[in-house]
Amino acid sequence: MLSKKALLGGLIMSVGAVSFSYADCDGTALHDNMGSLKTEMKSLAFDVKKENFASADQRIDTIIAVLKEAREETPYLFVEKGLSGDKLAARKADYQSVIDETITAFMALDGALEAKDSSKAKTMLGEIGKLRKKGHRAFKTDC
Ligand code: HEM
Repeated sequence: MLSKKALLGGLIMSVGAVSFSYADCDGTALHDNMGSLKTEMKSLAFDVKKENFASADQRIDTIIAVLKEAREETPYLFVEKGLSGDKLAARKADYQSVIDETITAFMALDGALEAKDSSKAKTMLGEIGKLRKKGHRAFKTDC
């Protein structure tokens, strides 16, 4: 039977996994931020598997810092759609609120790992996976 740790590691890996494709948003600051998120999520999975909670904690701090950077960027989809003025401001506010929810979810994951509460950690990973999907569905163009 798979251990709880292995299952948790697998969950983190699946949240980090996003298919590769190539489009104009390659090379944007936001695309780079997202690439870092993916890499950090992989390392986080490894840390959790190894029960390296101190390293996992640092990793989550890095992830949150990257999300704060991403929060200030503009999704390429908005450029592609030619949004400006009030429309751009409204869509950007929507985008930032999903990023904020994601930051809150990572903070809860951090708390769960600190408490070695793997059930809560799994719940939060599920939430993070859902927020990633929600964010990508609403704000990511085919890139
Ligand atoms: C753990 C969570 C997340 C991971 C691991 C992740 C990972 C990624 C990856 C790897 C890409 C590049 C996709 C590709 O090359 O096809 C990407 C793109 C993108 N992601 Fe995320 N993402 C996460 C959460 C989010 C959230 C919460 C949002 C929005 C609120 C978001 C918005 C975007 C956007 C807009 C792009 C396209 C880049 C651009 O417009 O320049 N992501 N993400």
